[in-house]
Amino acid sequence: MTAVCSTRNLEMVRALGADHLIDYTRADVTQTGQRYDLILDNVGDPAMYKRLYENSLNPNGICVIVAGTFFLQLFQGPWMSLTGRNKIVTYMTVTTKEDMLFLKELLETGKVKPVIDRSYPLREIPEAIRYLEGGHARGKVVITVE
Ligand SMILES: NC(=O)c1ccc[n+]([C@@H]2O[C@H](COP(=O)([O-])OP(=O)(O)OC[C@H]3O[C@@H](n4cnc5c(N)ncnc54)[C@H](OP(=O)(O)O)[C@@H]3O)[C@@H](O)[C@H]2O)c1
Repeated sequence: MTAVCSTRNLEMVRALGADHLIDYTRADVTQTGQRYDLILDNVGDPAMYKRLYENSLNPNGICVIVAGTFFLQLFQGPWMSLTGRNKIVTYMTVTTKEDMLFLKELLETGKVKPVIDRSYPLREIPEAIRYLEGGHARGKVVITVE
């Protein structure tokens, strides 16, 4: 598995299980010539999205978009999937009980390793949102409810 992250996150991402790393501050993943069967996009940079789809997916590859704008998620992604050679799956937050139980199992068995950057108490939600909006949270920001 190849992962893309910044210099400061290289070691953390390696520890999560990445075999190959690309530092996005030094190289553009869409310009390496390497193609992939599956791309999981957790960033959703609109400037990069088309290049990722055209330059980095194998024929019949799948691009799963977790991030990005609503336009990308609801219209552009499904449209490109219908008209292009590759498949794009857009993905919104897990909400069903079954999905939550499956996620719980993945966490309990260690198949998913959570990375929690900061925790904030409920009353400090505005501060937590401000931190998240800065665009540099390393993993998740958690709100604790007592
Ligand atoms: N579909 C859903 O249900 C769902 C749910 C939650 C969130 N989202 C979306 O998922 C996206 C990620 O959210 P987030 O909470 O993780 O916060 P975020 O602020 O988008 O992500 C911050 C992290 O991304 C890294 N990063 C920034 N640009 C990158 C790039 N080009 N390549 C690789 N890494 C990059 C940053 O590293 P540096 O700080 O070192 O640059 C930082 O570690 C957002 O667009 C959010 O809206 C979707």
